[in-house]
Amino acid sequence: MGTRGREIVSKDAVELVKLFNKALADEWLAYYQYWIGSLVVKGPMRPEVQVELKAHAGEELRHADMLAERIIQLGGVPILDPNSFQVEANCKYLTPKDFSVKKILAQNISGEQCAIVTYNKLLQRLKESSDYISFNMIRKILEDEVMHEQELEDFVNDLS
Ligand SMILES: [Fe+2]
Ligand SMILES: [Fe+2]
Repeated sequence: MGTRGREIVSKDAVELVKLFNKALADEWLAYYQYWIGSLVVKGPMRPEVQVELKAHAGEELRHADMLAERIIQLGGVPILDPNSFQVEANCKYLTPKDFSVKKILAQNISGEQCAIVTYNKLLQRLKESSDYISFNMIRKILEDEVMHEQELEDFVNDLS
């Protein structure tokens, strides 16, 4: 981002970089949660669930990419050390212990619900800023998370 582009968001940039780095940590953990879940999951509708979990994993990684790009545009540095993910994240990583479809889906639904609350708060915060580019980016991510929750809940309904 050039001089004028940065100028219009400069008073917010430092705080936004902090908030976006926390979201970036969430997205990496969400990516891993889906990715590892898609591999270990067992039980009814396994192939269909796997496809869905892999698709969501890809979207979480895309969110991480969007956030990291925006952090750089704002003059910040994306988290460099994966050890910081667990410390900075808003949402907890839930280690899969029970690999049943039902339990894996439940863990991912809980992750999505935390993501929806987090991004909704972030959107409220961005309403007060003049950074419409970030506002639009977070709105788009929130839309995806809302869709993810619904798609997982549809699976739970199909299974019961
Ligand atoms: Fe995401
Ligand atoms: Fe998601």
